[in-house]
Amino acid sequence: MDKVIIFDTTLRDGEQAAGGRLNTQEKLEIARQLAKLGVDVIEAGFPISSPGDFEAVSLVAKEVREPVICALARAKAEDIDRAWESVQGAANPRIHVFLSASDVHLLYQLKKSRKEILETSRDTVARAKKYTSDIEFSPMDASRTDPEYLYQILEAVIDAGATTVNIPDTVGYAIPGEFGKLIKGIFNKVPNIHRAVVSVHCHNDLGLAVANSLESIRQGARQMECTINGIGERAGNASLEEIVMAIKTRSDLFDLTTNINTTQIYKTSRLVSELTGFPVQPNKAIVGANAFRHQSGIHQDGIIKKSITYEIMDPRSIGIPASSLVLGKLSGRHAFKERLAELGYNLSEENLNRAFAVFKELADKKKDVSDKDIESLVAEEQRTVSETYHLDRLQVTCGDRGIPTAAVKLVGPAGQILADAALGTGPVDAVYKAINRLVGVPNMLTEFTVNSVTEGIDAIGEVLIRIESDGITYTGRGADTDVIVASAKAYMNALNRLLAAKKTNGAKARLAEGL
Ligand code: KIV
Ligand code: ZN
Repeated sequence: MDKVIIFDTTLRDGEQAAGGRLNTQEKLEIARQLAKLGVDVIEAGFPISSPGDFEAVSLVAKEVREPVICALARAKAEDIDRAWESVQGAANPRIHVFLSASDVHLLYQLKKSRKEILETSRDTVARAKKYTSDIEFSPMDASRTDPEYLYQILEAVIDAGATTVNIPDTVGYAIPGEFGKLIKGIFNKVPNIHRAVVSVHCHNDLGLAVANSLESIRQGARQMECTINGIGERAGNASLEEIVMAIKTRSDLFDLTTNINTTQIYKTSRLVSELTGFPVQPNKAIVGANAFRHQSGIHQDGIIKKSITYEIMDPRSIGIPASSLVLGKLSGRHAFKERLAELGYNLSEENLNRAFAVFKELADKKKDVSDKDIESLVAEEQRTVSETYHLDRLQVTCGDRGIPTAAVKLVGPAGQILADAALGTGPVDAVYKAINRLVGVPNMLTEFTVNSVTEGIDAIGEVLIRIESDGITYTGRGADTDVIVASAKAYMNALNRLLAAKKTNGAKARLAEGL
C-alpha cells in the first residue's frame, strides 16, 4: 500500500493560533511526543520570527532524531540562512520556503508582478538547495491563484530543486470538489511533477480543512500538513487525528497507510491541549470527551450487543484505554502504577511517589477515581516541576455578607517562606491580590474559565487562565477538587511561566550586550 506522509505543523502554524504561546521546553516535549506518535515531518517553527523560535527549532533539531525537522522561511535570503542555521543539526533537515502567489496578495500586499514572484520563488529555492537536498516550497494562497500561473511556479521551483511542493488553502476558501480538481490539474499540467511530492495545507475557515485534505489524497497528494486537535491560525488547520483515522478507518476507499502509531493520538491530544491551554471541544471528532460516549438508549443497546453497530472505531485504537480497574481509596501503589502505565505515563520513582500521595488525598475526597482524574492529577504534578514560586498554603473566607479575604503562603526561589493576605471583590480576586503582593509582577488577567474534569459534585475542577504582560500572553492551568485552590494553582502556573520567559529573555539580552 502507498504511504501518506504526515507533516505536523502544531509547533508552527498551531502555535500561531491566538494565545497559543509555548516555551522552548514545552515545544521540545511536544516534539518528542510527535516523534512517538510517528509523524514523518515536524515543522518546528519559523526561526527568523523571534529568538525564541530560533532556539526552539535548534533544540528540536538536536534532540528529536527520527522525523524530518523542518524550518519555515519567507522567500528571502536572510530567512533561508537563519532557517538553515537552526535545522543544520538535525538528522534529517528540511527548509520550507513560502511566497504568495495569488493576484490578490501580489496586488495589495506585495505589490509585485507575477514575473518577479516567479523569479524570487525559483531563486530562493535554489539558495536553500545549496544548504540541503530536502526543500519544500509553498505558493501561498494557492487555492485563489490562477491555476495556469500556479503550474508555472511549481515547474520552476521543482527545476530549482524543490522536492516537495505544497498547495496551501491559506484562507480556507476551497470546496472539496474544486480543490481536488486543482490537485488533479497539477498532476496533469506540471511536466516535472513526478520529481516532487505533492502536499496540501488546508485551513478550516469554512470547516472543510479535513474534507479538502482527504479529497486531495484521492487525487494523488501524498503529504498532509496538519496539526494536533486542528489548532492553528484563525479557525485552525486540518486536524491530524481526523485525517489519520479517516485514512485508517476507510482503508477500503483510500487503500493507503501512514506511519502513525494511532494508539498515541489521545495522549498527544491531551498534551497539546494542556500545554497550549486550548481545551478540546467535547464533540470534537476522535479526541473529544463525547467522541465515544453513547447517550441514546437505542445506541447503548446496540453497543452492548455488538460495538460495530454504532462504533466505527475502537477507542483503544487511538489510545483511550478500556477501564478494567476502578481506583479508589483502598487501591495500592502497584494498582496506581499499572493504571498510569496503561494511560501511557512512565513516571520516575520520585514523581510516582508524589503522584501517589496526591492520588491518596484525592481518593479520600472522591469515591471512585477515574482515568480523567488521574490524568488531571499527573498534569498538575508536572506543572509544579521547575516552579520559581510554589503555592504552599491558602486560606479563604467569603460569603454573602463577609468581605472576601485570602491568606497565602508561598515558597520563594531561595526556599524562603513568604506570606501575605488581601481583600478582594470575590474569593478569587482576593487570592490573586494576595499572590500579587508577594510575587510583584505586573500583569492583567484576560481570561478565566472553570471546567469540571468529570461529572458529580466531588469532581475535580480545572481552571484555565490567561494573563498578559508586556503584550505577551501566558497560559496557566490548575486542578483541584476546590475551585478556589485550582484558581490559585492556575495563577501560580501562569506567573511561573511568565517569570521563566522573562529570565530567558533577560539572559539573552545580557548576552547580546556582551555582559
Ligand atoms: O497557510 C499557509 O499558507 C501557510 C504557509 C506558510 C504554508 O501556513
Ligand atoms: Zn497555514
